[in-house]
Amino acid sequence: MDILDAVRGRRSIRRFRNTPLPESLLGTLEDSLLEAPSAGNLQSRRFIFAFRNEIRKQLAEAAFRQNFISEAPLSVVCCADLSIANQYGERGRTLYCLQDVAASIQNLMLVAYSLGLGTAWVGAFDEKQVSRILHLSEFLRPVAIVPVGYPDENPPRPLRGAREESIVRLR
Ligand SMILES: Cc1cc2nc3c(=O)[nH]c(=O)nc-3n(C[C@H](O)[C@H](O)[C@H](O)COP(=O)(O)O)c2cc1C
Repeated sequence: MDILDAVRGRRSIRRFRNTPLPESLLGTLEDSLLEAPSAGNLQSRRFIFAFRNEIRKQLAEAAFRQNFISEAPLSVVCCADLSIANQYGERGRTLYCLQDVAASIQNLMLVAYSLGLGTAWVGAFDEKQVSRILHLSEFLRPVAIVPVGYPDENPPRPLRGAREESIVRLR
């Protein structure tokens, strides 16, 4: 798929079919996360692939009952690794590691879309609850939960703001 088609065509998916993911796609999804840019190439991020039914249900609960999370056969919990980010001090801990994770998430969503899969970027959740569910070390900060599965909806494109309000061309 052309990269621009993926950028324009991807939508947040909040209804998933009850179809398992082929194992053969998992490596490609992992590559999409790992190949993203990161500050100083430190890759201050970690990803937990949650397949287990019980865990996915608990994640949906922790995300204030966004139950579509548990409908998808996989949730990728995307975390900033503060122990690595520390190398860049305050800026590393509060800024770079979040950007490292975000770059990976966007890669994941676009690559998943190109493979016929749907995803949603879920940022609204109780961080402490997610950390407890996954037994995360104190150095890992969960940043987003990304459910991945075959889409069972084809949502319209939500409107974007006016181009000139978001982009300034200085020549
Ligand atoms: C940081 C961030 C947090 C988000 N959190 C949620 C969320 O908790 N639940 C949800 O359903 N969508 C969430 N979204 C998805 C947005 O609602 C969605 O991207 C936006 O409405 C545009 O739609 P589109 O992704 O189909 O282009 C989040 C997106 C971002 C970037």
